[in-house]
Amino acid sequence: MDTFAVKGHVIYTKTKDEVTVTENAYIVCENGKAAGVFPSLPERFRGIEIRDFGDKLIIPGLIDMHLHAPQYAFRGLGMDMELIPWLNTYAFKEEAKYADTGYAQKKYRAFCDELKTGATTRAAIFATIHMPATYILMDMLEASGLVTYVGKVNMDRNAPDDLRETTHESYESTLAWVKDCASRYVNTKPIITPRFVPSCTGELMRSIGGIAEQYGVPVQSHLSENAGEIAWVKELHPEIASYSRVYFECGLFGHVPTVMAHCIHLSEEEMELAQQRGVYIAHCPQSNTNLASGIAPVREMLQRGMRVGLGTDVAGGFSASVLRAMGDAIQASKLYTALADRSRPPVTLSEALYMATKGGGGFWGKTGSFEPGYEFDAVVLDDSDINDAAELTPLQRFERVVYLSPEIRADAKFVKGVRIKL
Ligand code: GUN
Ligand code: FE
Repeated sequence: MDTFAVKGHVIYTKTKDEVTVTENAYIVCENGKAAGVFPSLPERFRGIEIRDFGDKLIIPGLIDMHLHAPQYAFRGLGMDMELIPWLNTYAFKEEAKYADTGYAQKKYRAFCDELKTGATTRAAIFATIHMPATYILMDMLEASGLVTYVGKVNMDRNAPDDLRETTHESYESTLAWVKDCASRYVNTKPIITPRFVPSCTGELMRSIGGIAEQYGVPVQSHLSENAGEIAWVKELHPEIASYSRVYFECGLFGHVPTVMAHCIHLSEEEMELAQQRGVYIAHCPQSNTNLASGIAPVREMLQRGMRVGLGTDVAGGFSASVLRAMGDAIQASKLYTALADRSRPPVTLSEALYMATKGGGGFWGKTGSFEPGYEFDAVVLDDSDINDAAELTPLQRFERVVYLSPEIRADAKFVKGVRIKL
């Protein structure tokens, strides 16, 4: 691969505490990886191709740690219920339609186009239980150039007949799919996806936990989102001390790289377990508001040094924008400070950007930053239509994009050093 530089106002985070901004800077990309950010091009790079984006902003590709591709089609609808009735009334009915590959083809096309043209470069995605539709989604994502984990969802209890597999079917199809995907895609990888404890028997969770460990496949699920859900898990597994421990006992809690969405109501013991197991938390503030789930104690998680990224959780969240998730995380955190814990200050812009990039990026290795050695995922943003106030710094312009124009389309996008077609 060649060496080139992109030029513009470069904004990224090395730590959660500070945004690094370099105006009119060059980011050099060498063999798909960042070689550094330079205010002027070092002598050793003289003569390389320069792609000049002028006055535009350049940020690391954003990471969506949690969303549901089949729910994209009904985003913005049915936000009048809490989690369990919402799943039964809206989500499960929509997901059942993905038994029809024609439907899947059409709706997944729209989903992939949205993801590709926005500011996201990597995502951990739930599909449905349906194998053919999941392959359709994976084929489209592979063609997009984005880097994703896609989960064929496992469900063998407490689901409608048309969205429930037998334990055996669920295990067998997951195993065959994991084996098949090993050589099938470059940028699209399988991830073991028990929907959440109420949807999966212990037997199924243990067996797919075994697949995850044997084949080195990561795990994603939902954890501690809603009070009714937590009470239900207690009823289903009275012998196990906590919701987190149910996953742990089944080999689904940090035995391989693991991302758990929400984690709003974790006990002290569960917080410690999640941290000790290196579990990534996908904080999904918009979904948590829409479904009246609560506010995750993100400030505390960050202070403890836990791994936290952001998720849009489409369609619990109506927006597929991680920029929007940044703004929502800050706003939700301000309410948490005001209403729940005056002793902890709200999440800052720098922390929100960190979670949206390097924080979640760790799940993919060295991604989410422009520090040397990080995979070169970059998004160019043209904010000229809202850059109407005089004398704004690049960071102020970026802050305004977060709040005023979070649905902005990327002006250009690079993934692992390759410019993708938008
Ligand atoms: N818990 C189990 N399934 C879901 C889902 O589809 N969305 C959300 N937000 N939570 C869940
Ligand atoms: Fe979700």
